[in-house]
Order: sequence, then structure tokens, then C-alpha cells
Amino acid sequence: MSTNLSARMANLRVSPTTALFSKVEEMRRRGEEIISLNVGEPDFPTPDNIKEAGIKAIRDDHTRYTTGNGIAPLREAIIEKLRRDNGVTYGMDEVAVMVGAKQALFAALCAIAGEGDEVIIPVPCYVSYPDMVRLAGGSPVMVNRKDDFSLDLEAIEAACNEHTKAVIICTPDNPTGKVYSEDELRGLADIAVRKDIFIISDEIYEKIIFEGNRHFSISSIEGLKDRTIVVNGFSKTYSMTGWRLGYVCARRDVIANAIKVQSQTTTTPPSISQYAGVEALTGPQDCVTYMAGEFEKRKNYVEERLSGMAGVVCHEIQGAFYAFFDIRSFLGKEYEDYGVIEDDTKMCTYLLEKHHVATMPGSAYFAPGFLRISFASSMEVLKMALDRIETGLKAHKC
Ligand SMILES: Cc1ncc(COP(=O)(O)O)c(C=O)c1O
Repeated sequence: MSTNLSARMANLRVSPTTALFSKVEEMRRRGEEIISLNVGEPDFPTPDNIKEAGIKAIRDDHTRYTTGNGIAPLREAIIEKLRRDNGVTYGMDEVAVMVGAKQALFAALCAIAGEGDEVIIPVPCYVSYPDMVRLAGGSPVMVNRKDDFSLDLEAIEAACNEHTKAVIICTPDNPTGKVYSEDELRGLADIAVRKDIFIISDEIYEKIIFEGNRHFSISSIEGLKDRTIVVNGFSKTYSMTGWRLGYVCARRDVIANAIKVQSQTTTTPPSISQYAGVEALTGPQDCVTYMAGEFEKRKNYVEERLSGMAGVVCHEIQGAFYAFFDIRSFLGKEYEDYGVIEDDTKMCTYLLEKHHVATMPGSAYFAPGFLRISFASSMEVLKMALDRIETGLKAHKC
């Protein structure tokens, strides 16, 4: 019997966000006071009406396996949401409820891409996309975005070949906060049609969008529905990260394949969470407006602070709850005890160990020279954290 481990796993990394999360927890256990701006989850509690729906589901004994694609009332609520918000009409067999948007993305990738297939990923990108493609058996092909993080359509088209199966986009975007314009998405749609490929559209931050910006789902373009795989979920909009609930919407055969993945791995998403999800989508939506409003106030503050730090470059944050800023002017300089800090990863280590603030290095998102902070924390915490970042960055020797 061979005791060698899987060759596929050898090329896979532990999600950098999870790895840093563990390091911060370890430092806290040692009694160090750390401010975490590294984690991508809203700091609000799940709204009461949604919690009550979960509790009721337990009381009503909805505590068993459900149908593989999710309970019918939830799929109906999702279909209604897609019709109302995105102007696209889906059938009941074109939607599957999954264990978070993350599993929805992975199942979608398994559904369309395998050995020998390529998936184009505009970078910077969400940490997990490339490894999910590898886990599915395919090869990620990274294509740089433009300096303002908009899509480089020419580069995407040039990267397409006979092995290309899809392009993955995220709008509003993690990590950059970019919201793609309708024009840009129409340009991408033209490429998808010409090259006969899918678009995987991760819309999980759809409702966290700031003044002057509008979410546009590429699936709503005429003729695009059947080549778009929309992924969305409850984690960010309803502050339900721990409930593990998301969904995927696509052509019937894509969904059938995605359900195979779910049926052979997790079986179904948690039954209790699914009932809570029905309430989230059909109940009052003022919690969504409230949370988005709070994120906007914090975004304004974070933008103001970062733009006041000489040497830091931060583009306008249009959505989601992250600031992704360029710190290249601070690299190659000497910082006390740390010698010359040459890259963003070392800068993160320095800020964490010396100034007790946890940030994410841009290289985790395939954009070296940047830092990402999440502003899913109170104003007081953000103020303290930005003070620490500012002090830390400025502390180099001349
Ligand atoms: C862009 C993006 N997609 C998907 C996910 C996964 O969300 P879920 O909690 O629904 O699995 C995240 C979580 O951080 C994310 O940032």
C-alpha cells in the first residue's frame, strides 16, 4: 500500500485568511491584544427575525436531510429575489442551495471544468478561486486587471484558447472594492459569446454597495443567462457566515452536475439554516439597508484616513467592506528590529507582531505590494487600527 499523499493536494495552499486567523488566535491566547482587520465577515449579529426562524425550524423538527438541491420554499424565495433584483427568471431546477457561496463556487467549477481545462481569473482575486479550480482538476490562468482594478478585456480575450471553460468575476469585489460597470460587463459578455465560454459571477457582496454605484448582474444581459453561473449567499448580506448557506443559479445541466458534487460530499446544506434563509429573503429587508449604511460610514472614514497617509495609494472603494491599498513606497526600507522590509507579507508580519494589527498581504490575492483591511469593525476599533497602521508604516529609518 502506498503511503504517499495526494499529488493534487501538494499544489494546494491552506486559505491564507484561515492561516492568519489561526496565528492571531494563537497570539491572543498568549495574552497579546490584537486588532483584526483580516477577517471577511460582518461584525453585526444575524438579525433577530432570521435567528427566530432558525429556532422555530428546530422546534418544528426541521432537523433532517432535505432534498439535495435545497427546500422548495427557499428555492422559490431565491427565484423571486433574482427576478426582483436582477431581472432574470430562473426555473426551480436552475437553482441549487449549497453550504455557503464557497461550496457553490466549487461545485460550479466541478460542474464545468476538469483535467485539461482552464479557467481565467482576473487578479487581484478572492483567495480561494485558483485553488478551487485546481481542486476541481483544472488550471487557473491569472490575468492582471488594470491599475484601477477594472477588467482588462483585451488581456482576457488574449488568454482564451480551446481549453478555456470560464472566467470568474466578483462584483462588488473582494479584495479591491471595485464594482464592474455595465459597459465593462457587456464587453466581457461579448467575449464569452465569441469564445463560447461560461462566466462565473460571484455576487456575494451585491447588497454592500456605496453611493454612486449600481450592481449589474451579467446574467441579465440578453442571451447571457445560459452561459452565466451566478453564485450568491447569505453570509455577507444577512450577516450569516456561520449558518453556511449559499446558492448557485445556472443552466439545468450545470445545476445537475453541481448537485452531484453536493450529494457525494455534504449531502445537503443545513436544514435549519435553509428555513432561516427563507425568512432572510422574504422577511423585512431593513437590516440589509442598515448594515450597508453602517459600512458606508466606515468606508468614508477609512478612505479619508488612508488618503491622509503620505505614500499610501487607495482607489475609490465602491462596494464590499475592504480597502485594498498600495504600500509599495514603504517597501525596501528599514524598520527597527525587522531589517529591510521587502514585501507585503513581511510588512503584515511586522504590523501584526510590532503594532498588533492584523492585515492581509496583497500577495494572498496575487497582487504583491498591497495590503487589504476589512472594515467590518466598529468606528472605535477602526480608528485605533488605522492609528497603528499609520504609526507602523511611518516608523522606517530614512
Ligand atoms: C468573494 C467571496 N466569495 C465567496 C465567499 C464565501 O462565502 P460563504 O461564507 O457564503 O461561503 C467569500 C467569503 O469571504 C468571498 O469573499
